[in-house]
Amino acid sequence: MTEATTHFGFTQVAEMEKEALVAGVFHSVAAKYDLMNDLMSFGIHRLWKRFAIDCAGVRPGHKVLDLAGGTGDLTARFSRMVGDKGEVVLADINDSMLKVGRDKLRNLGLVNNIRYVQANAEALPFPDNHFDLITISFGLRNVTHKDAALASMFRVLKPGGRLLVLEFSKPTQPLMSKVYDLYSFNVLPRIGQLVTQDGDSYKYLAESIRMHPDQETLKSMMENVGFEEVSYYNLTQGVVALHRGYKF
Ligand SMILES: C[S@@+](CC[C@H](N)C(=O)[O-])C[C@H]1O[C@@H](n2cnc3c(N)ncnc32)[C@H](O)[C@@H]1O
Repeated sequence: MTEATTHFGFTQVAEMEKEALVAGVFHSVAAKYDLMNDLMSFGIHRLWKRFAIDCAGVRPGHKVLDLAGGTGDLTARFSRMVGDKGEVVLADINDSMLKVGRDKLRNLGLVNNIRYVQANAEALPFPDNHFDLITISFGLRNVTHKDAALASMFRVLKPGGRLLVLEFSKPTQPLMSKVYDLYSFNVLPRIGQLVTQDGDSYKYLAESIRMHPDQETLKSMMENVGFEEVSYYNLTQGVVALHRGYKF
């Protein structure tokens, strides 16, 4: 029997290996993750995340799942929005990222309505129809079985709830595409090497972005597991896209 394979960046690996390789990347970068995000994107990731929050429709009392939430940028904002009667679950597969996130949010004084859960997006340990909103920000491209993860998100979302997927996507302008390729394959790994002494993790970042489904493909994947009224916004000429879908 031939072993199922998948991609880890541009490298073809056994499906069973990918999770451990991705884990290695995020254990390695966790401590400097926030700094690197600001450096690599010139702070623009904050605007992309703000746009996602503006599209989230979160209200006091809501239950929110910030999946693959890492160091908790979105969780911090949602925690303030849902108030004492609401709850935000920061879920991530990687304990190093969760720990950096938990320390950061506690230092911000955000303690009352946040729960931390170590979980794989492909098999979420939550009841059916539970959350008003699920966000997965720069997380989906790292997941081995994306269809299984989307189906799992659909299951735990309440009817009427929405899913937001913020992720790198396919630039819409050829010139932007060229500049972006030059930047991400030549500059990013060097910044990574300089700041984290781990250029390979940032080479993976650039490669994983190219391997991720484009805007229309991801839209179809969401529709295939049951999401309705799926639409997307291109941000920074499609360098990033925000997909939104509903469960009815
Ligand atoms: C690039 S970080 C994004 C963190 C945060 N959401 C943000 O936007 O800054 C990707 C995160 O996805 C997590 N991740 C990767 N595979 C996962 C999986 N199968 N299930 C849950 N989290 C996963 C990683 O551990 C990492 O924390």
